[in-house]
Amino acid sequence: MWQKVIIIPLQFSVWVQEASMSLENKEDLRYNVLFYGPQPMISGQRASNRFSGDDTMGNKEIADMANTCLSPNYTRQPIALVKGKGAFVWDADGKKYLDFVSGVAVTNLGHCNTIVNKAAQKQMIKLGHTSNLYYTEAQTSYAKALLAKLHPGRLFFCNSGAEAVEAALKLARLYSSEKYDKNRLEVIAFERAFHGRTMGALSLTYNKKYKHGFGPMLPGVKHVPYENLGAVEKAITSKTCAVIIEPAQGEAGVFVPEIGFIQKLAKLCASKNLTLIFDEVQTGFGRTGKLFAYEHFGVKPNIITMAKSMANGFPMGAMFADEERAKYLVPGSHATTFGGGAPACAAAAATLEILSKADTLANVRKLGKYMVIKLTGMKATHKMIREVRGIGLLVAVELSTPGSSIVRRCAESGLLVNCVNDNTIRLMPPLIIKKAEVDKALNILGKALAK
Ligand SMILES: Cc1ncc(COP(=O)(O)O)c(C=O)c1O
Repeated sequence: MWQKVIIIPLQFSVWVQEASMSLENKEDLRYNVLFYGPQPMISGQRASNRFSGDDTMGNKEIADMANTCLSPNYTRQPIALVKGKGAFVWDADGKKYLDFVSGVAVTNLGHCNTIVNKAAQKQMIKLGHTSNLYYTEAQTSYAKALLAKLHPGRLFFCNSGAEAVEAALKLARLYSSEKYDKNRLEVIAFERAFHGRTMGALSLTYNKKYKHGFGPMLPGVKHVPYENLGAVEKAITSKTCAVIIEPAQGEAGVFVPEIGFIQKLAKLCASKNLTLIFDEVQTGFGRTGKLFAYEHFGVKPNIITMAKSMANGFPMGAMFADEERAKYLVPGSHATTFGGGAPACAAAAATLEILSKADTLANVRKLGKYMVIKLTGMKATHKMIREVRGIGLLVAVELSTPGSSIVRRCAESGLLVNCVNDNTIRLMPPLIIKKAEVDKALNILGKALAK
């Protein structure tokens, strides 16, 4: 205690002396103070560790504290996660879980993937954030690698799914108003669609619950039933500029469209000069068994939005646009400070490399099918299973009863799943999941359903 009291003023006097030596240069003064500033924290080291993730608190302590200081907009499980590896996470009380949520389809290569983490670390040590006022090798080389997997076009990097959707919406409008007519700005979206929570994305999202109190929404958005081509045709007017669709509706509870519908939709959009936007925020980067879900349908969307698992957990998003449209984004038309930061791009590049060369995608197709078959088989013994739907490792079990108690029971037995739409259990294991782990998860789920 004595020492602390003495050390701080002494240290402080050292700063003042050092700073005053170069007073003719104010920049130096600020540099010195900033440089030495954190040192007195040594006296408060224990407290600082305790509140910065050194695992000194239990689940309840963390949850109780969180509930006094975080905005109350999430329904959280009473679980505080402290560690993750592969398909597993551990909570603050030391309990281990099989993770079939994967950070909501984000940690597709498993938690703390060594290769991805090393790539990001290496970049962090060399160069972190720079802004988009300059080029970086990390961003450029990742863009080139990702474009090699897509049809000809350009990439705009951002930080989240909603941001990618906003960029897509803006570009579709810009292209249409400049190329065709300044009033040609309307967008067709689908019932049950989820495209994010920012105002433009929210306007494209269907669920009224998410919009409550936030209106008015963006004008000119029409929602039509999913997989209903006639409804799309009917909704198109001379003012329509784009159609936005999820190639499988994830948040709605995993609805997978017929190949024929998507192909006809693409043809219809091309014939009417409408921009076809595929929102692949949830389906992208291997989740459905192809790198992107659009590949299942043999179509080439004009714009593709992506995020979530792009960098296996580093916040990262992107909008791909074909050459015809991308050129309308002239300097100053759109921007973001953080988008495409070098560390995120390094993580994304490592993620893409793993997804590209490994048999990961084959594993997704094989185990995804296996899960759907097994779960469908469980219908005979678990009458509350209404329907099982899936594409790759994006799988849903629709129940005839609310799903929240099932989620809780699964967690109690060491399996993390989440519930969408009140009655649908969504299963999204990492793409590197093993058959034995799938069996274990389905066993836990079966017991939770039986209680
Ligand atoms: C299809 C789709 N689009 C957009 C979003 C929004 O992404 P974010 O939460 O990163 O803003 C989501 C999120 O779940 C999504 O599933």
